[in-house]
Amino acid sequence: TDPALIRNFCIIAHIDHGKSTLADRMLQLTGVVEQRQMRAQYLDRMDIERERGITIKSQAVRLPWAPTTGDGEGTTHVLNMIDTPGHVDFTYEVSRSLAACEGTILLVDAAQGIEAQTLANLYLALENDLTIIPVLNKIDLPAAQPEKYAAELAHIIGCDPSEVLKVSAKTGEGVAELLNKVVAEVPPPVGVADAPARAMIFDSVYDSYRGVVTYVKVVDGQLSKRERIQMMSTGAAHELLEIGVSSPEMTASDGLGVGEVGYLITGVKDVRQSKVGDTVTQLHKGATEALGGYKDPKPMVFSGLYPLDGSDYPELRDALDKLQLNDAALVYEPETSAALGFGFRVGFLGLLHLDVIRERLEREFGLDLIATAPNVVYRVIMEDGTECTVTNPSEFPTGKIAEVYEPMVRATVLAPSEFVGAIMELCQSRRGNLLGMDYLSEDRVELRYTLPLAEIVFDFFDQLKSKTRGYASLDYEPTGEQTSELVKVDILLHGDKVDAFSAILHKDKAYAYGVRMAGKLRELIPRQQFEVPIQAAIGSRVIARETVRAIRKDVLAKCYGGDISRKRKLLEKQKEGKKRMKMVGAVEVPQEAFIAALSTD
Ligand code: GTP
Repeated sequence: TDPALIRNFCIIAHIDHGKSTLADRMLQLTGVVEQRQMRAQYLDRMDIERERGITIKSQAVRLPWAPTTGDGEGTTHVLNMIDTPGHVDFTYEVSRSLAACEGTILLVDAAQGIEAQTLANLYLALENDLTIIPVLNKIDLPAAQPEKYAAELAHIIGCDPSEVLKVSAKTGEGVAELLNKVVAEVPPPVGVADAPARAMIFDSVYDSYRGVVTYVKVVDGQLSKRERIQMMSTGAAHELLEIGVSSPEMTASDGLGVGEVGYLITGVKDVRQSKVGDTVTQLHKGATEALGGYKDPKPMVFSGLYPLDGSDYPELRDALDKLQLNDAALVYEPETSAALGFGFRVGFLGLLHLDVIRERLEREFGLDLIATAPNVVYRVIMEDGTECTVTNPSEFPTGKIAEVYEPMVRATVLAPSEFVGAIMELCQSRRGNLLGMDYLSEDRVELRYTLPLAEIVFDFFDQLKSKTRGYASLDYEPTGEQTSELVKVDILLHGDKVDAFSAILHKDKAYAYGVRMAGKLRELIPRQQFEVPIQAAIGSRVIARETVRAIRKDVLAKCYGGDISRKRKLLEKQKEGKKRMKMVGAVEVPQEAFIAALSTD
């Protein structure tokens, strides 16, 4: 295709603002999906995504469109719509999807206004020099306030309110006009046609029948079928078994040229061999310089995952192996815990990523899991100059520590102005540092903070929502690390550490954690035949203590001598009960107690 006729664009929108519905309307209007095949949310394929209303994996669809009026009227253009993942954890994937586009539709619900995440993605789009087309959706709703929110959008991107398109993805009103505008305003891709090929990978998806399907945008040159190609970050070579475009079903072609968006299949079985952000070139006489912007995915949050039933351990391992084929950011290694048995320490991009993986393990693989409280990654410098990275609090070093670094984020919160006080209070209590505040319109405010990631991973979003009656939205991105006064708090039962409860905390919060956990465990641990002290300690210094009093429980007491078979039955029963007990040192603890203590409330 002549690059002058290509338009590559994406849609930036908040969850529920109607991106999938708009995409569906576009598929219909351009005729690539027939009416009778049309089902709601054609492009969202994963069940969990659909149920939770989030789109995790991006995809690209090729839409032929001849503008009905204006520039290019009557000439069929190729519009490539690139789907962007919608959540904070996937910022890097979003940035790669944006890098594959020349323009973006900024889609905002006309009854809600812009949300923090949309704003963050808009900034990413502006950094990538994309042309922005502002659009208000759902104008058919009685609650829509198109004038108010058009003014807000115009204020944010610096255009005139009259330039904000108003559409209804539901009824289709204004959608043809929007497609015309994409052709008229989004610039065509530019690249060097006779240079060695350079194609950027913006998505990589595992398919159980075809292996990994890699989505690329060709920047320079041409990729042709059966050619040998090379991944520039690793130098790994593969044969191009198939190349083509999705429209939206995969359709093979002879090759892809400058500015074109499509897919590659090489037969690899693991997405880590075809990484988002990497550059693809030919093996022979290929490009020498990769396209900019490649980054390895880096897990930010870790949690221990344990099967409720220890015999499910091999199933858990197989399930993680399978999920990793489709998820280059998922890392894990085996771990054992005195309290929880055999499991894995698993690394995630963020909390949503953790939730999604956990839910898939439970739902798709039928596993019952216990997860330890999520923690971030700490960098510890010892006084002798050695350094270590801690992904599990129980492995925090015990020697002389010089400094501890923790990851920081830059957070953006959008909310109605009446909640500013409550939000500031929350951020303050989470060691936040206010960077700035802006009024988007007279009653809506944007607050910018730096916060330790550790303070966000633990129920921050829930707190924010409850303090703002659900009106606030949050986005954050990593901004490096900072030294903090962090300590490890251990919980000891009868003098033995319970590894699953060790936590790394700011020193001002250590005491409260110790008191809370010791109190919780006292409630949950049944009385034993001896007194059991529960202590919270920093190193050898005890900061809180509770006691479970002793009891002598004689199961045979009730059987006045006589009936031997009844006695045996009772002893048998007691043994049963013991199976689900875990031993921590000399103390027997039902596994349920640990699970209850780990649950957040
Ligand atoms: P995710 O894919 O989950 O991120 O959400 P989305 O942004 O794609 O939103 P989706 O298209 O799923 O729409 C969210 C809800 O809004 C659905 O119930 C749609 O039916 C509804 N909706 C979308 N567009 C319109 C519209 O123009 N008018 C009205 N009234 N409802 C709409």
